[in-house]
Amino acid sequence: MARTVRKVVFPVAGLGTRVLPATKAMPKEMLPVVDRPLIQHAVDEAREAGITTFIFVVAPRRTIILDHFSVAPVLERVLKARRQAEELRVVRETTLPKSRIRRAVQSKPLGLGHAVWCARNHVGNDPFAVILVDDLIQSTPGCLSGMMEAYREVGGNLIAVEDVPRALVSRYGVLDVESEKGRLAKARGIVEKPKPEEAPSTLTVVGRYILQPQIFKHLARGQRGAGGEIQLTDGIAATLGEVPLHGYRFAGRRFDCGNKIGLIAANVAYGLARDDLREGLRAAIGALE
Ligand code: UTP
Repeated sequence: MARTVRKVVFPVAGLGTRVLPATKAMPKEMLPVVDRPLIQHAVDEAREAGITTFIFVVAPRRTIILDHFSVAPVLERVLKARRQAEELRVVRETTLPKSRIRRAVQSKPLGLGHAVWCARNHVGNDPFAVILVDDLIQSTPGCLSGMMEAYREVGGNLIAVEDVPRALVSRYGVLDVESEKGRLAKARGIVEKPKPEEAPSTLTVVGRYILQPQIFKHLARGQRGAGGEIQLTDGIAATLGEVPLHGYRFAGRRFDCGNKIGLIAANVAYGLARDDLREGLRAAIGALE
């Protein structure tokens, strides 16, 4: 039986060049969608899926992401004194107990595979989840909860996937599919950013993974792949002989918040999904047209 997944890795050390200058001094994972930063959407999704240990792979000297999840005594005192009970509740909700948080530093942004490798000492010999925070997935229950259920059935490495038009596959990791059953696609291979005419399918990787620790010995080699970066996909491909790989077609809508249009669209979609904001937002958008 597959071992329960209790740890998640958030690689949050990228440069976020597609949304500059917003990310000049601030990691892109702190960009808000409605009233919470992307990283909080991701932590909430992980909590709902039963994760208890949260591993953040951060760039050197960047503390703001961890600050967001620590207790804010001064702010809490002020809110209490002002009897702002609702504000106090939402602030307290963001706090993660210190004992649940781990921090790893990626000294240089050498790629996603390298960022995940930087978390190896905190992951140890356990299976673990990885969430790419800029891939925001709107679904109830959350994408990772659905993956946990599928993982209990198939174990091994499991990656969230979606179909994209063939012309776009060169932006993504792509599965070579052996067979399909329901939401699951058993893969015999995976390639990073193939040319459209060479791609084995149009089923592409989305930023949610459940991985086995065997991947670390492959990532340790530091082999450069597509774009000169150390790719997570290459590490997954290297373990195919010993760890089965499945794609999981998630339910819900994905927003690539690492680019400007995706980020704006996510704000509109999440705003329209909120009972307290829908009407006002519709009116505000209508007034623009
Ligand atoms: P991206 O490729 O989207 O991030 O990586 P990026 O490089 O920051 O963005 P652009 O392309 O310059 O705009 C996906 C996730 O992996 C993290 C990023 O922070 C992001 O959440 N990442 C990427 C790292 O932590 N380290 C890296 O070396 C690369």
